[in-house]
Amino acid sequence: GNVHYYEFVLRESNFTRLCETKSMLTVNDSFPGPVIRVNKGDTAYVTVHNQGYYGVTIHWHGVKQPRNPWSDGPVYITQCPIKPGSSFTYEVIFSVEEGTIWWHAHSDWTRATVHGAIVVYPTVGTTYPFPEPDGEEVIVLGSWYTGDLYEMEFEYLSTGEIAPASDAYTINGQPGDLCKCSSESTYRRLVDYGKTYILRVVNAVMNVEMFFAIAEHNLTVVAIDGAYVKPIVTSYILIIPGQTMDILVTMDRPLGHYYMATRQFDNVDKLPTFDRVNATAIIEYRGNYTPPATPTFPSILPSYEDSDAAKSFTVRIKSLADIEHPVDVPINITTRMLITSAANTIIYPDGVSSLASSLSNISWANPSTDILLAYYRNISGVYTPDFPDWPLYFFNFTGPVVESDEITSKGTKVKMLNYNEQVEVVFQGTTVFDSPEDHPIHFHGHSFYVVGSGEGNYDNVTDPPHFNLVDPPYVSTVTIPLSGWVAIRFVANNPGVWFWHCHMEKHLIWGMSTVFIVKNGGTPETSIRDPPPNLPTCSGFTTRIQR
Ligand code: C2O
Ligand code: CU
Repeated sequence: GNVHYYEFVLRESNFTRLCETKSMLTVNDSFPGPVIRVNKGDTAYVTVHNQGYYGVTIHWHGVKQPRNPWSDGPVYITQCPIKPGSSFTYEVIFSVEEGTIWWHAHSDWTRATVHGAIVVYPTVGTTYPFPEPDGEEVIVLGSWYTGDLYEMEFEYLSTGEIAPASDAYTINGQPGDLCKCSSESTYRRLVDYGKTYILRVVNAVMNVEMFFAIAEHNLTVVAIDGAYVKPIVTSYILIIPGQTMDILVTMDRPLGHYYMATRQFDNVDKLPTFDRVNATAIIEYRGNYTPPATPTFPSILPSYEDSDAAKSFTVRIKSLADIEHPVDVPINITTRMLITSAANTIIYPDGVSSLASSLSNISWANPSTDILLAYYRNISGVYTPDFPDWPLYFFNFTGPVVESDEITSKGTKVKMLNYNEQVEVVFQGTTVFDSPEDHPIHFHGHSFYVVGSGEGNYDNVTDPPHFNLVDPPYVSTVTIPLSGWVAIRFVANNPGVWFWHCHMEKHLIWGMSTVFIVKNGGTPETSIRDPPPNLPTCSGFTTRIQR
């Protein structure tokens, strides 16, 4: 493959949205940040120069990083923060994924402004499993906060209150026409009649699942999370935080202006109303015509509480599963786990109690040295290898619960896996704290097959016979449905230290995460590579926000 070099300068600069200007951290002064374009089989060296005021890390979301967890990025999991005034070069190896993925900061709430798309084209000399599109458009959905993110995050953690809602959603950095002071800067794309474009859609929104549609145009979803799917022809999509989609759109409507629009999906009606504004961008056909004063709005865009629309889209996702893209679902499972997700109360040693989140009732505590270095160098006292395979006790997870079930505690417990283990994990949502919610859960270093999901409590006798082992979606992010469960399978064939977490930032920072360590396979080719030079150290510096 080819080798690419990128320079990412992280620094604060001024941005104006919704009539207000603020200083915020971005890469190369752009929001969203630069697009990385590579072919499968290539390697990118990205040097991050931190000219900001606090420690930061960058994660390459959806990149497997074979044997190279050193470049994965989650703070205190695979590395310590890149300190202000210093730089670090990530070696990003594109070996497996094909399609759209993305990169984002993975420390504090920095990812709200530090993110961008990655487009992985097919290996040189190979083609898409569909006709070559005529053009391409990257569509990054984001959150806009008028306030300072660090202050908001600190406030959120120290008061244990409900997460602050964003002030607008954005498409390629712009809230669009329907928001105040935003018309002039609405994102526009000129298109040609009769041409087919591939949209590279990224949900970089902080805490919310999104609906997305283009007025009067059909969408054909062809890939999700950097893997091909059976084409889904639809008038709208649901895209969960962290997820990416490749979508074909043919410009076959009368010459005119059409809105593409995105709106939150909120199936528990928990978000403040001002978060419900639609973000829009405009598709503008080239040609000689007088456009109407306002572009056509996608009337098909589901309303924010339409859970049927969300479900009916999601159930249609299947792997492409053809000869060139075979499905290989593990069937001789060697490790089975049931992991519960919950919002909880936590009581800190100083007696202060606040809200928290957990997996299997353990709320992740960041260590002071990253887990990867501790594992690689055998440093003790950083983590314990006792993340449970099963909940410590069973209750009716999706029924009413007693108050004692709500209490959780902090821990840095990881799950150890032998190389090539065939793993099945059932993620079980709970109604602990009376707050059932969808959790878009993401795994680093691997994609996994989503073999089943359902409502209520998982039943290990009656549910497995219904698993899809033929063409299950192969993804790196999946929703644990509210008051339901989802079952995934993967082969632990990537030695390293890999983060599992809810991709809603408000839950991640509350501790809804854990780590799987995949051990070496016994040969150099099945072992973690040597660490790169100049790894940031943890000494003398933390990211700004700690609890
Ligand atoms: Cu976008 Cu840890 O992930
Ligand atoms: Cu969550």
